[in-house]
Amino acid sequence: MIDSKNLKIVQMTEDSLKFFENNILDFDEFWSYKLLKQELENENSTCLVAYLDDKVVGFACLWEPPFEIHINNIAVKKDYRNQKIGTFILEELIKIAKEKNKEEMTLEVNVNNIYAIKLYKKYNFEVVGTRKKYYNNTDDAFIMTKKII
Ligand SMILES: CC(C)(COP(=O)(O)OP(=O)(O)OC[C@H]1O[C@@H](n2cnc3c(N)ncnc32)[C@H](O)[C@@H]1OP(=O)(O)O)[C@@H](O)C(=O)NCCC(=O)NCCS
Repeated sequence: MIDSKNLKIVQMTEDSLKFFENNILDFDEFWSYKLLKQELENENSTCLVAYLDDKVVGFACLWEPPFEIHINNIAVKKDYRNQKIGTFILEELIKIAKEKNKEEMTLEVNVNNIYAIKLYKKYNFEVVGTRKKYYNNTDDAFIMTKKII
């Protein structure tokens, strides 16, 4: 298990974005570099990068509509999973939501994504609805929310 003291979570920059150009699929096989670039360029979106020592081990993107933080994605590099990096990233996002006095956090997650759902439930996200065939017109998504205030 990694020590959170060795993990640094910082804002993604144009420079750190480049790291993902040829290996985004090692983090999330359903994302693309183009999508991540669009997120970084979207003024309503914030993307973060997680470094373990000097290695990039994860990223997250969130949107900030009024009153809420919407988690667009949390992804951990495949060979670093199940070592609590996802947990530390989510804790950072919750910290951001609290600092910004947001009322709730929301996200969509594939109903078959058991580890992600386990992670979110651990932090009291609740399933509040389902979007049918949300992913590639096949898999359903749970809508999950967590009250901050
Ligand atoms: C979801 C994801 C971010 C979790 O990251 P992670 O660093 O592996 O998460 P953690 O190590 O903090 O584990 C979270 C929980 O899932 C469980 N888990 C994760 N991987 C596991 C595995 N391979 N086997 C058993 N349990 C596992 C952990 O036990 C933990 O629960 P616990 O704290 O009660 O023990 C990661 O699997 C990922 O990047 N998936 C692809 C992208 C994705 O689907 N993101 C979610 C989009 S909404």
